[in-house]
Amino acid sequence: MATMASKITQPNNAVIRTVPRPADSNASGDIFGGWILSQMDIAGGVVAAERAQGRVVTVAIDAMRFHQPVYVGDLVSVFAHVAKVGRTSMDIQIDTYVHRRRTADEELLVTEGTFVFVAIDEDGKPRPVDEA
Ligand SMILES: CC(C)(COP(=O)(O)OP(=O)(O)OC[C@H]1O[C@@H](n2cnc3c(N)ncnc32)[C@H](O)[C@@H]1OP(=O)(O)O)[C@@H](O)C(=O)NCCC(=O)NCCS
Repeated sequence: MATMASKITQPNNAVIRTVPRPADSNASGDIFGGWILSQMDIAGGVVAAERAQGRVVTVAIDAMRFHQPVYVGDLVSVFAHVAKVGRTSMDIQIDTYVHRRRTADEELLVTEGTFVFVAIDEDGKPRPVDEA
């Protein structure tokens, strides 16, 4: 687990890099947790679909932590990697960092969570994930 104020040291490129808009925030300028969850779900889905080589769905979100707020104008980077592969499911570890460009030149870990995705077939039924 990375420390809350650690620099971005992930070896791989971010799956998503984006900047939240005012419409994604409340009246105080804090970005809604649901917006961040959505970005994490999208990033995790990309990585899970690549690993499963096909369609996946989110079945659970475990150990979700919101460490720091995200503000309008922050550069948001979402990192995701396969942490565990089961028979049909995959645990995807997802970490979100922000670069607070407006106030300081700092990069912070703002959220982390383990999203569980299941590989599904054309009928929406679980299908085995091939061994790597
Ligand atoms: C995902 C889904 C296909 C699984 O169907 P299911 O009949 O529960 O399948 P199973 O019981 O065989 O479980 C399949 C795998 O998911 C895992 N799983 C199921 N529920 C889980 C949970 N709450 N937490 C963690 N893993 C879970 C099982 O352990 C199993 O993993 P394994 O094959 O690696 O051992 C079904 O629950 C579903 O369609 N859910 C809705 C998904 C969705 O729409 N997501 C988007 C939300 S908007």
